[in-house]
Amino acid sequence: MRVVVTGSSGRLGRTLSTGLAASGHTVIGADRAPIELPGVDVREADLLDERATEALIAGARPDAVVHLAGIAVPFSAPERDILLANTSLGHTVLAAAARAGVGRVLAASSPTVIGYGTPGWRASAVPIDETHPREPSNAYALSKLVIEETARMFSRTAAGAYGWFRPCYVVSPEEWAGSPTQQGHTMLERLDDPALAAVSLFNYLDARDAASFADAWLAAPPEVVDGEGFFVGAADALARRPVAELWRDLVPGLGPDADGLTGTRPVFSIEKAAERLGWLPRREWRSELAASTTESRAS
Ligand SMILES: NC(=O)c1ccc[n+]([C@@H]2O[C@H](COP(=O)([O-])OP(=O)(O)OC[C@H]3O[C@@H](n4cnc5c(N)ncnc54)[C@H](O)[C@@H]3O)[C@@H](O)[C@H]2O)c1
Repeated sequence: MRVVVTGSSGRLGRTLSTGLAASGHTVIGADRAPIELPGVDVREADLLDERATEALIAGARPDAVVHLAGIAVPFSAPERDILLANTSLGHTVLAAAARAGVGRVLAASSPTVIGYGTPGWRASAVPIDETHPREPSNAYALSKLVIEETARMFSRTAAGAYGWFRPCYVVSPEEWAGSPTQQGHTMLERLDDPALAAVSLFNYLDARDAASFADAWLAAPPEVVDGEGFFVGAADALARRPVAELWRDLVPGLGPDADGLTGTRPVFSIEKAAERLGWLPRREWRSELAASTTESRAS
């Protein structure tokens, strides 16, 4: 397929773009801060510019668009700026795709849309799946709710299949090797202090597994993905101890259902993606950290 990936220079976009290219797709990256990516035709574009975005998408004649561009970290800019930037980007890119008659459009949402992070938050059930109510508690999460609804709107009104995914805390290959993560600390620090990973309910996702998810999403029959959203995370929790032993002190909002999260079981369910798309993550922190430690010792 010909696939436009917006935000191709980002933490997630870099690996997702090169991963789709490696699986045989023709990938056109679009970012306002372009970087070279192997096998990807990268274009510079400010996707808040409606005309430039329309020209880029219509000119690329893609079969699919994967929309990732945006402000990716809650509270990293004033709340209003995050809301306006992310919702404008979402509408501009999806509307341009609809006008160009693109067959498939996948937009990045976030697990934060369900509202964890505030003291009063309570999980409706654990493990958390796509039936959990959406109760955003900041402008970033609210912008993701709007992006999900924008995808649903185009799913109803445009010809193609429109859907979204909620990637868990993305870990790029270099971050296993010690580069700082989105929050500024390393993966080892995030594991050594469980309070750091508790903020995102111990979730995570290797960026290469995000690429294989996008590939599976693109390959699925349109009726399976149209108007649908998927949690996309690792098969285990990002914690050295079972979540069942950690939640009372660190995330009481998970409630007693979390006693069932024994062993390495994660808080978020990825059953929907597994059942409907046949997708399963292949990377786990134990093996990825061990592999990067061995590599750095050998070099
Ligand atoms: N990284 C995570 O853990 C995570 C988790 C859940 C959801 N997400 C979502 O996934 C997407 C990608 O996240 P990321 O971590 O790669 O973010 P990132 O900040 O690393 O990358 C975002 C990219 O978007 C580009 N961009 C921003 N505004 C633009 C504009 N106006 N025009 C063109 N390009 C623009 C930036 O230049 C950047 O390269 C985001 O929508 C984010 O909200 C990320």
